[in-house]
Amino acid sequence: MIAGRPARVVAIGECMVELTHRTDRTLALGFAGDTFNTAVYLARSTLAEEASVDYVTAVGDDWYSDALVAAVAAEGIGTKLVERIPGHTPGLYLVRTDGSGERSFTYHRSDSPARRLFDVEWPERVDQAIADSDLVYLSAITLQILSPTARERLWATLAAARARGARVAFDSNYRPTGWPDRAAARAAVRRTLKLADVYLPTLGDEQALFDDHDGKACAARLAAMGIAEIVIKTGPDGCLVVTGDQLSTMPAKRDVDVVDTTAAGDSFNAGYLAARLQGAPPREAAVAGHTLAALVVGRPGAIMPAQVLPRRPGAEPVKPAHRRVAAGRDLPDSSMRDTARQTTGPEPTAAHTARRSARSAAGEGGAV
Ligand SMILES: Nc1ncnc2c1ncn2[C@@H]1O[C@H](COP(=O)(O)OP(=O)(O)OP(=O)(O)O)[C@@H](O)[C@H]1O
Ligand SMILES: [Mg+2]
Repeated sequence: MIAGRPARVVAIGECMVELTHRTDRTLALGFAGDTFNTAVYLARSTLAEEASVDYVTAVGDDWYSDALVAAVAAEGIGTKLVERIPGHTPGLYLVRTDGSGERSFTYHRSDSPARRLFDVEWPERVDQAIADSDLVYLSAITLQILSPTARERLWATLAAARARGARVAFDSNYRPTGWPDRAAARAAVRRTLKLADVYLPTLGDEQALFDDHDGKACAARLAAMGIAEIVIKTGPDGCLVVTGDQLSTMPAKRDVDVVDTTAAGDSFNAGYLAARLQGAPPREAAVAGHTLAALVVGRPGAIMPAQVLPRRPGAEPVKPAHRRVAAGRDLPDSSMRDTARQTTGPEPTAAHTARRSARSAAGEGGAV
């Protein structure tokens, strides 16, 4: 909530079609992508009165694009900033788990429509909407898919947003294969950090990118850049919260039965930012991030089933494109089934429950 109205949040990036092997020959359809995952968990962790969440991306005009947009809308995430590029189909990745439980990801996204974000034909109205928001969220994966000129345009838009009072939250999510070389990634991340108010990297990514010796060295380097709020995630150890000259170690949830760490950091970021939007100070927000991430790592896949972590009340009803599959011959996938069964009831979400217990753990009281 900002000045008595819902905060306007926009997340920018690529959501892909996700095909997960159930068996060698059977695949389940879902939708995921780092900034999209964060948008989903942000929407699930806040109420419409607290924040609107819009996703900025580009898709094509095929059935998969329709289904992707329907999946975004089904989360209560705004789709008015999703651009359609005729003749295209969304990026796609396959998830395969081998006999020893090791997951591998195969990407088909080199010509995905999201790569046209902020390019010459990109509509000015999206830049305007970003500049008019209160919180902009992006990652270095958002940057890596853009052309150099598009990246310049995005940076100019972030600067315009900040000039109007928006805060910019950023996660490096450094994936070396997405960059021509490390120097290019370093330059793009450094440039974005000059525009970032909240930086939410993972220590391993920062070490791979900037050779930090340890968390403290990483914190010192980032603090010297003048970033107001820094949270360095450290996997099962938790995170380091750096504000001003204060550094706090915030341990992760203990005794978590970890099933799949996909989207651990994405969901942490959402829990953290949701709590900050709701007025929690950084350390308390970190506890909320850990609480949400602990739920997410306890389940397979990036997006938790809505039965476990409900969508925000009032999310958009299922679109026909979805219903066609859900009512069709086979129901291959839990996330599609979730969409088909989506409820719009007013009950508080599990994320809210998680947040309340997080606050109680942080000593604030008032937990239900
Ligand atoms: N084994 C674990 N036990 C409990 N919590 C965990 C564990 N692993 C991760 N987490 C939670 O997830 C958060 C983020 O983890 P991590 O630093 O691994 O993110 P990441 O590498 O950025 O993930 P992503 O794959 O989304 O990029 C941690 O701060 C913690 O709250
Ligand atoms: Mg990450």
